[in-house]
This record gives sequence, C-alpha cells and structure tokens, in this order.
Amino acid sequence: MKLATSLIGAFVALAQVVTSEAVVGKADGFAYGVISGGNASPDYPADIEELKSMLTDATPRVIVLKKTYDFTQSEGTIVGNVCLSWGDAHSCQQIIQDDCGETPSMTAKWWKAPTQPIDVASHKTILGVGNKGVIRGKGLRFRGGASNIIVQNIQVSDLNNKYVWGGDAIGFDGADLIWIDHVTTHNPGRQHYVFGFNPSTRVTLSNNYINGNSTYSTSCDNYHYWNFEMVGTDDQITMKNNYMYRTAGRAPALSGGTLLHAVNNVWSDNGGHLLEGGDSKARGIFEGNVFTDINSMVADYAGRLFGTPAGSESKCKSALGRSCQTNSYKQSSGSLDSYTDTSFFGDFSGLHIASAGSAAQAASSVPQNAGAGIINVGA
Ligand SMILES: *[C@@H]1O[C@H](CO)[C@@H](O)[C@H](O)[C@H]1NC(C)=O
Repeated sequence: MKLATSLIGAFVALAQVVTSEAVVGKADGFAYGVISGGNASPDYPADIEELKSMLTDATPRVIVLKKTYDFTQSEGTIVGNVCLSWGDAHSCQQIIQDDCGETPSMTAKWWKAPTQPIDVASHKTILGVGNKGVIRGKGLRFRGGASNIIVQNIQVSDLNNKYVWGGDAIGFDGADLIWIDHVTTHNPGRQHYVFGFNPSTRVTLSNNYINGNSTYSTSCDNYHYWNFEMVGTDDQITMKNNYMYRTAGRAPALSGGTLLHAVNNVWSDNGGHLLEGGDSKARGIFEGNVFTDINSMVADYAGRLFGTPAGSESKCKSALGRSCQTNSYKQSSGSLDSYTDTSFFGDFSGLHIASAGSAAQAASSVPQNAGAGIINVGA
C-alpha cells in the first residue's frame, strides 16, 4: 500500500514535470496567433531518426529537445570540387562548385547530412530545454505550404561551415505562420536564414542570436557573410529583438518582393556591409534598431525603404497604426536616414504589427536576452 501510494505520487510528479514544458510568450508581429502543436503532450525524440520522423509526420506535436542531436556524420561524405575564391588561408571559406573557371580549385570532402535540411511539417512546436536543445549538422526548413509552426530555444549549428553551399540553418520556401524565437544559429556553410522564391507569409523572427563569428568566412577573418537571404516573391517577415553579431554581408539581403518590418534589433560588429538587395520590389521599415560598429550600412539596395530619420516618426501611422522609433548608430559608417519612401505603407494593411520600444531599450536588453538558453520553457 505504501509502495503503491508512493508510485502514484511519483507518476503525478512526473506528469507535472512533463506538462510544464511549454512555449514561453506569444509571437509578436506577422506570426501573431500561431499555436502550432498546441496542447499535444510533449514528445522526447530518442535519437536523430526519431527526431526526423516526428518533425516530418502528419501529427501535431510538441517536440522537446533536451540533448544534442548530431546529424553530421549520419549520411556519410561527398567528394567533389571546391573553388578557392578567397584564397587558401585556413580561415577562408571555399565554394562547392564543379567549374571554378580561372579560380584555383581542389578536391575536397564534406558531410552530406548538412547539405539537405529537414522539411518540417505543419502544426509542430519544437522546444529546447535550458541550453540543451541542440541540432548539429542539419538545418530546418519550412516549405510547400507548411504552416503553424513554432521553434523556440534551440541551437542549430555546424553545417559544413568551411563550404559555401555546405548547408543553411533555417529555411523557408512557401510557408505560412512560422515563429522562430530564441534560436541560436552558428557556423552554417551558407545562410543563417534563407527564404526561397515561393512566398512565405506571416513569419516572425524574434529574440534570435545570429552568431556570425565563424571559423571560416569569405573574408578569411571570422565575419560570416551569409546571414539573411530574403528573395521570396511576396514574403512577410517581422524581425524583432534579434542580435546579429559579427556579420559581413546579407544582413539582410532584402530583395525579391519581401515586406520586412525590422524593429528593435541589434547589429553589432559588422566587418563588411549590412543591407543589400537588388530587387526594386523589396520593401522595408527599419525602426528602433541599434547599429554598432558597422563597417558599411548599405551596399547596393534597389528596393523601397523607410529608415525613420528623426522627425519622420509619425509618418509610420499609416503603416503601423502608431509612430515609429528612430534607429541608433554608434561607430557606424552610414545610416538609413536617407531612406524615406512611404509609398508601400498600405502593404502592411491586415497584418499584425509588432510593438516597438526605443533603440536605447533594445541596446540594453537584446544582446543578453537573444538566443537559446535564456528563457525557461520548463524542466
Ligand atoms: C570567435 O570564436 C572563437 C572560436 O570559438 C573564439 O576563440 C573567439 O574568442 C571569438 N571571437 C569573438 C570576437 O567573439
């Protein structure tokens, strides 16, 4: 009888521990309203095979990660040609490419698993416990109509980082209602975040840590070039409270027909350029952001942009229903103050707009609160 009672007690305690793992907070911005796996009882994938099947099956799930899932060596290696486009110093990235033209090339070997991401199915929540939820050697992608997905508090890292085309960390291509929150990405081969041509709508990227301090880079100096590639034909992306550290380009590449709202993000230590984008259909509002130690704010940018120069804050009312916050620039070459285009402000109609604090508030809170291992999703 005593034994039975204590066993029941143990089961009750276990059940309480299990059900305490839950998404922290709610998506602000375009992905507002996402519920993903909802109240499904948590699943704890035993290994990489089970993680993959839980991420891709048709069942709504809350998938809890409390250890490292290392896919790196799981699919063997590929041998092929690489171009030494930035030289042959140890810290230089090389490009996986058959024909290098006049550029010196060599044969190299890389892991196969990171080159092919997992296509996550609809209605999934992926949650990391503490700082333990880590996926190495495999990216996550949302495509082909995948919708209603939350990824919170995990790290995705180490995707053939010596090789351009070695692997992207987080990808979108024709997805809807996706919230990526408190995710750390580090050492991808190519993009930290990549958006394909098919429109991805109602996406919020918040509180993420884009750690561009990479072992190999295009400038051979540990500054990662491939950060945000936004080329979707009609994407809707909110970036809020993200921390971009040691980038060198495409931070973001705001292109295609993307509609971007970048609010209260912090960019720190950029060794190349920050904004670029070659398509005139891209559109963005930048407000309340902090730019610190940026080598060059804008490379080529062909789209429309509102950079919230001081005095123009109230113009945002027609787009956001409130005034914008001005951006802050410290030790930065250039600013976004010359961008004052408001002709696209009607395009925000019908979207949920993220709230904004001041750039000063972002400067003091974002760097230490971004990325995995900061919030407590449960024991
Ligand atoms: C970059 O990463 C390397 C390797 O982990 C580390 O030794 C170095 O301190 C980092 N540098 C900066 C500036 O963060």
